[in-house]
Amino acid sequence: MSFVEAIARKRDGLPLERDDIRRFVGGATRGDLPVEQLAAMLMAICCRGMSAEETSWLTDDMLRSGEAWDLAASHPTVVDKHSTGGVGDTVSLVLAPLLAAVGVPVAMMAGRGLGHTQGTIDKLEAIPGFDCDRDRAGLDRLLELAGAAIIAQTADIAPADRRLYALRDVTASVPSLPLIVGSIMSKKLALGAATLVLDVKWGRGAFRTTVAEAHELAAALRRVARDAGVACEALITDMNQPLGSALGTASEVRAAVAVLQGEGDESLREVSLRLAEQAMVLRGADPAAARSSLERVLAAGDAMAAWIRMVEAHGGDPDPDRLARPSRTVEVVAERAGFLTGVAATDLGRVAVTAGAGRSRLDEPLDFAGGVRVHCRLGDRVERGQPLATLELGERPVDETALCSRIGAAFELGDDPPATLPALVLGTVDEVDPGARPHP
Ligand code: URA
Repeated sequence: MSFVEAIARKRDGLPLERDDIRRFVGGATRGDLPVEQLAAMLMAICCRGMSAEETSWLTDDMLRSGEAWDLAASHPTVVDKHSTGGVGDTVSLVLAPLLAAVGVPVAMMAGRGLGHTQGTIDKLEAIPGFDCDRDRAGLDRLLELAGAAIIAQTADIAPADRRLYALRDVTASVPSLPLIVGSIMSKKLALGAATLVLDVKWGRGAFRTTVAEAHELAAALRRVARDAGVACEALITDMNQPLGSALGTASEVRAAVAVLQGEGDESLREVSLRLAEQAMVLRGADPAAARSSLERVLAAGDAMAAWIRMVEAHGGDPDPDRLARPSRTVEVVAERAGFLTGVAATDLGRVAVTAGAGRSRLDEPLDFAGGVRVHCRLGDRVERGQPLATLELGERPVDETALCSRIGAAFELGDDPPATLPALVLGTVDEVDPGARPHP
């Protein structure tokens, strides 16, 4: 069967054969399938989904498209963490030094921006000198120096994901359960840490918008991890509004540093603590003791010291004053008084991407100064003329008026406060009822 016929099968809702998936992943890895066929298959998978069996073949082939590092063999206590993606989600930058400060080593292989979200690697590269490109020996050295490392996917780790990830980003084929599972788990299993915590986002700024969809994804990710012998837990967390107030690259580094200095966004701090606690519990700690030691290192400045060690080990300059700042800012104000009842978080993420924090073409350079700063949270009372958000601009040319009106439209104001507010952390896969509707 030709690959075009395989695309047609998926388009028509028929399952792919084992060999179709092998050719798809092999074609992405070796470059011997044309980009239009890869893109068409991605879109067909996105629209039609995959069975658990197809998803497991996809993950397996993506994992086997490159090297496996088996970190657990040399560093059995190392923890890895991954988020399914959201906006204002700077948790990795807080969590890595936080865990390192309590003596739990962390190694993450992170990604660049995807869809409307801002990527961890893009944020770290906003730090002057920070080098995320490390091979296996380089990762060992970072762990030795700092006990925490966040590196970019190397050319040899899950190369199929590298290719497909970039292609999904520019073809609107990101929000698909099997594609997300294949992408995340191929990298996680290739790195091979023995312990993995997952932050699975649900809501308007996430790739899975309902609790049921997020629960399905969390369960699928955890199943693949546990089947591979990895101690894994997934927390389902809220993404109905940006997690932190900064959406961008340099600005999100500043937001993480603020939390590590004992200030900053409360929601970002809390989700980071909960995930770090979960990681320690997976490694055998008592939950209350884990939480109190994490809070202690945060308050004592040890987590901030661990951040500085991590940044310096990566070759970066930890001085936050060296981070890019916007050359122009434009405030977007409320046109009426009311309560904030909804936030189109995906739209805010897209504005941040357009302002410089992401790409519309594979080769587009980022503008580290660009992004959005959000000034209110769901349920807040705002007065007419009060700033809702600020558009932050660097050198990338943009249609400022269009971006501002998009920001304004993302904030929904009503006469009454929302009846309920979504919980920041819903819980683990087993704790969450997938049928619950916590935020209609
Ligand atoms: N993170 C990834 O690495 N891949 C996805 O598809 C989504 C989030």
